[in-house]
Amino acid sequence: MVTQPSAHTFSNRHIGPSASETSQMLASLGLSRLEDLAEALPAAIRVDEPLDLPPAVTEAQVLDDLRGLAAMNRPHRAMIGMGYHGTLTPPVVRRNVLEDPAWYTAYTPYQPEISQGRLEALLNFQTMVSDLTGLPTAGASLLDEGTAVAEAVGVARRTSKKGDVVLLDADLLPQSAAVVRTRALAMGYQVIEADDLVAALQQHEAFVVVVQLPGTSGRIRPVTELRAIADKAHENNVTVVAACDLLALTRLAAPAGWDADIAVGSTQRFGVPLFYGGPHAGYISVREGLERSMPGRLVGVSVDADGTPAYRLALQTREQHIRREKATSNICTAQVLLAVTASMYAVYHGPEGLRGIADAIHANTRRLAAALDGAGCQLATRDFFDTLTVTVPGRAAELVAAARDRGVHLRLVDDDRVGISVGEDTEQADLEAVAEVFGAELGEDSLGGLADHGREADYLLHPVFNSYHSETLMLRYLRALSDRDFALDRGMIPLGSCTMKLNATAEMEPISYPGFADLHPFAPAQDAEGYAELVRRLCRWLEEITGYDRVSLQPNSGANGEFAGLMAIRGYHLAHGDDQRTVCLIPSSAHGTNAASAAMAGMKVVVVKALADGSIDMDDLRAQVERHRDQLAAIMVTYPSTHGVYEDSITELCRLVHEAGGQVYVDGANMNALAGLARPGRFGADVSHLNLHKTFAIPHGGGGPGVGPVAVREHLAPYLPNHPLVAEAGPETSYGPVAAAPYGSAGVLPISYAYIAMMGADGLRQATLTAILNANYVGKRLEGAFPVLYAGADGRVAHECILDLRPITKTSHVSVDDVAKRLIDYGFHAPTMSFPVAGTLMVEPTESESRYELDRFCEAMIAIRAEIDKVERGEWDSSDNPLTNAPHTLARVTADEWNHPYSRTEAGFPAGRHLGPLAGTGQDKYWPAVARIDGVQGDRNLVCSCPPPEAYQD
Ligand SMILES: Cc1ncc(COP(=O)(O)O)c(C=O)c1O
Repeated sequence: MVTQPSAHTFSNRHIGPSASETSQMLASLGLSRLEDLAEALPAAIRVDEPLDLPPAVTEAQVLDDLRGLAAMNRPHRAMIGMGYHGTLTPPVVRRNVLEDPAWYTAYTPYQPEISQGRLEALLNFQTMVSDLTGLPTAGASLLDEGTAVAEAVGVARRTSKKGDVVLLDADLLPQSAAVVRTRALAMGYQVIEADDLVAALQQHEAFVVVVQLPGTSGRIRPVTELRAIADKAHENNVTVVAACDLLALTRLAAPAGWDADIAVGSTQRFGVPLFYGGPHAGYISVREGLERSMPGRLVGVSVDADGTPAYRLALQTREQHIRREKATSNICTAQVLLAVTASMYAVYHGPEGLRGIADAIHANTRRLAAALDGAGCQLATRDFFDTLTVTVPGRAAELVAAARDRGVHLRLVDDDRVGISVGEDTEQADLEAVAEVFGAELGEDSLGGLADHGREADYLLHPVFNSYHSETLMLRYLRALSDRDFALDRGMIPLGSCTMKLNATAEMEPISYPGFADLHPFAPAQDAEGYAELVRRLCRWLEEITGYDRVSLQPNSGANGEFAGLMAIRGYHLAHGDDQRTVCLIPSSAHGTNAASAAMAGMKVVVVKALADGSIDMDDLRAQVERHRDQLAAIMVTYPSTHGVYEDSITELCRLVHEAGGQVYVDGANMNALAGLARPGRFGADVSHLNLHKTFAIPHGGGGPGVGPVAVREHLAPYLPNHPLVAEAGPETSYGPVAAAPYGSAGVLPISYAYIAMMGADGLRQATLTAILNANYVGKRLEGAFPVLYAGADGRVAHECILDLRPITKTSHVSVDDVAKRLIDYGFHAPTMSFPVAGTLMVEPTESESRYELDRFCEAMIAIRAEIDKVERGEWDSSDNPLTNAPHTLARVTADEWNHPYSRTEAGFPAGRHLGPLAGTGQDKYWPAVARIDGVQGDRNLVCSCPPPEAYQD
């Protein structure tokens, strides 16, 4: 065996503190061994034997392995359609967005002053969607097309109270229909599919009707028919949802023009690789009056303290934390990186470019249609954009196989029909190959059209879509935006509950391998063997790490994993004749998505109290279990708790709930404090979701990609999600899918695979212990400045700590906001603010941060405490000091006028002006693009698409 030098051990690269730093940090806590920290966990749940994982491999070895798996996939030319289309990612966008850590290591833009770049990109996304659909307000992004349709049904439910039927176009994408059916099961709606939607609206008491445009078969309903459907629907107070291909809308009538209330769909074909089904950003836009019940995030324009226009998340930001089970949806992480990619595709091509791409696709489809028609093939319709359905009695399988032999994947509709969908990447040779398979010859003739649809280029008129069409300009625009943001590539992001750890380059690289990036989710199984093997191995490793028996990778966010897990619990109770078991106990400290997901799964939320020390009030738990014994479906707890503590009561809690016939859901978002040390599936839990975009190194991407696998014990395995088109994706006994694609965000799974493969069992355990060490080290260093709110019985925290600012705020009037914004001046992203306790900051350093960075953070916090003392002592005016005025922009610090009681250097360089490689000090100073943003102003005057450039002039 070849011996690797230790620097080649990946865990040494992933874990921040060196061996000697680790010893010093341990000594500061009065400990001598890293293993001593394992004692922070209750003995009853601690696992000391090593995980059964393959030996850790090097970066070079994992890249080799993944190259091999990618080569086992045979993407061919994807002409299957069904909501996923071949597209050409502009290389300038691929390298400078998708593959650029400045974009992919950013967090959700809750701190808007350090997120102006990605907020602008998302505002462009909203403008693009709003322009193309004609509806005034578009959201920042949703999880995929299937869940976007289901979310639109949810909006309709909240607006029209009458009726209990969801009416679906028979030509709706089958995976969207299946996702809607899953949600409808939980909510008790009836789902009816029909082709003649006007007649169906007359027959059924519907509250929503969903039309697909173009339909799965390729057919485009004429505008006259769409208007008749909308008129009939509105007569009966029924909401009209249009599920539209955004590229087709460059040529078709905008849904607003024929009176649709909501438009939804996918933005995948705007330059986002197929990725075997995801991650891709879904979109939603709504008519006036519905904006306040929209799911997901919405970017709005406001102003900063200097009156400069500035972007921020508007309205429903973190609304689950406020409205909990009454929230409009459980969507938290969505697919931001992919929304940014899609928006940049539109910025780069502009309206003319997009229309040119759509025209070419349509023209190629018409040529193919003429060739096939000429050869006597029967076409389902002559009104199409890019997709044909050809009737070939009894020969469909044979023709699809023949096309595959020529390097093209077509859709096998049934024994008698084949679907053909043309994409941006379809070449002359592909068209010729397809024609040949059908015994036709491709000529210059064309056939078919867009029914009575027509559209002027009345979209994307804003300068941003008409300015950056050369690569030089585009590159500079992307760089300018990313320079406005603070991501992990600049410094530590100590966000509690978010696990902003390293996303290593060796983990990221393979997602761009063509074998992973270019495969269609409904490609035949024999051409997806690499993904099948990757999924099989990754599931096995996750099962081993969590102690569960079965894992489904389908949920494409943590909250979607929660929904999937709760649906499994529901399925289990129903199978046991316990349909009355609908109560879900949720501790008051739980993440807001828990309650929102429980409501979506049709459960009734009952809150369990917390004690003053933050732990679950076990007396209240006993009382609630007793009170709801016969209706108890489940308890949802986060472990370690959202207070950052390993509660000793966890095994007792599991026992109590099980005795009453309930199931235990452990929210696995904090798995970074358990991996290698304890296994929820073995300490009493029945189900968990994992956040691969936290614990398992998938980057946050500014708010997604999300990957939230659900893991269960054997008795819940029959109720994991499945998929209508891919039998291997889940059990037949399931309730259905929770996401459009069989394996959710499959395209980013190589990241977690590489992470586990390179860390191995020892590396994972060491990472967890170091995460605990780092949190305790920070807590200890800061205890004199900001007390740590909660700790376990041994005085230790888990992988994060809550700093209590409330007493300080009381005496000094300096708020958590002020401290969070002042940290920007010191070159840091703020910790999590006011979750789970209002008026506090929750710090999660993760194992990837070095001692140097931890010390820099602690010193900044200690210096901020000294600044607060000055305010308290009256040395600085309580309304004019570096804290209330933070963050300081370059424009402010260099302004001719300076009337503050502190110096410009104190404002902009509070940590000094020394040289150094680190963000925030001296030459590497990070300057926020805007000063403190006025959130309320932005919510009162909702502006959610690009404002005219004059708005930025002085
Ligand atoms: C404890 C906890 N549960 C659930 C979630 C939801 O995960 P996601 O944002 O991926 O939907 C989060 C996300 O921050 C979380 O911290």
